[in-house]
Amino acid sequence: YDYDLLVVGSANADLVIGVQRRPAAGETVLGSDLATHPGGKGANQAVAAARLGARTALLARVGDDAHGRLLLEAQRAAGVDPAGVLVGGAPTGVALITVDPSGDNSIVVSPGANGRLTPEDARAAAGLIGSARVVSAQLEVPLETVVEAVRHLAEGSRFVLNPSPPRELPQELLAACDPLIVNEHEAKVILGGDEAGDDPEDWARALLARGPRSVVVTLGAEGALVASADGAVRVPSVKVDAVDTTGAGDAFTAALAWRLGAGASLAEAAAYAARVGAVAVTRRGAQESYPTADEVEAV
Ligand code: RIB
Ligand code: NA
Repeated sequence: YDYDLLVVGSANADLVIGVQRRPAAGETVLGSDLATHPGGKGANQAVAAARLGARTALLARVGDDAHGRLLLEAQRAAGVDPAGVLVGGAPTGVALITVDPSGDNSIVVSPGANGRLTPEDARAAAGLIGSARVVSAQLEVPLETVVEAVRHLAEGSRFVLNPSPPRELPQELLAACDPLIVNEHEAKVILGGDEAGDDPEDWARALLARGPRSVVVTLGAEGALVASADGAVRVPSVKVDAVDTTGAGDAFTAALAWRLGAGASLAEAAAYAARVGAVAVTRRGAQESYPTADEVEAV
């Protein structure tokens, strides 16, 4: 394999404003100065893995504009091979983010060029996809593109999906996931709403029955639950003071995918990923908050 991890996904400019509280409909609130950060769930995953030391590439699309150049520069600086980042077709994706004093965020994404990452683009990148030990994806790019990418996985490689933002998933995609990584909200959307109940072990069992070989349910401060045919195991969280949770889930997914590729068990990989996510929430921004492997050792 030429790459430990190939990420298929989005790249966004994150336009971030700190607020005391979020405005209600029809209301205006004043916030902090605007900060512009490289983000997007795909680009974030790629940077997170590369910072940890993984040989990483990104299949994505950005616009031919200043935001696109910011994103490409951030990928290069982190050591990601940007050969799979396509340019043009629409403006670079943008995420409008408000962060409140507790570190929680609300995000509106304009997909822009991410929406133009086509199945055709994935076919054209078959060589790149087929040279990765692990391929990971999220859903800020068209679902058909992710489905097409999965058709070009190398023999013996592994596919990891964080279905965010969540929607119903085709059987072909579910069956390829090892693992499917979801939070509570994503689990409930995929399971079709309230019938899902409130027990994460029930969600994991119900999700496994849909076809993935393994499932990881992330539970915030409660840690994570990893489940496969061998049973379910709880992985504890690492207690930290959160400053900005933006992109912490992306770092978790990337770290988990990389460790799995290196031969870790699902529980070992999730425990490592929890430490990576814990560092990320103690720092502002998404990509800028991701630790190196040495910084993870210190947690
Ligand atoms: O998961 C965090 C990311 O979601 C942000 O970087 C933003 O771009 C949105 O895509
Ligand atoms: Na952060």
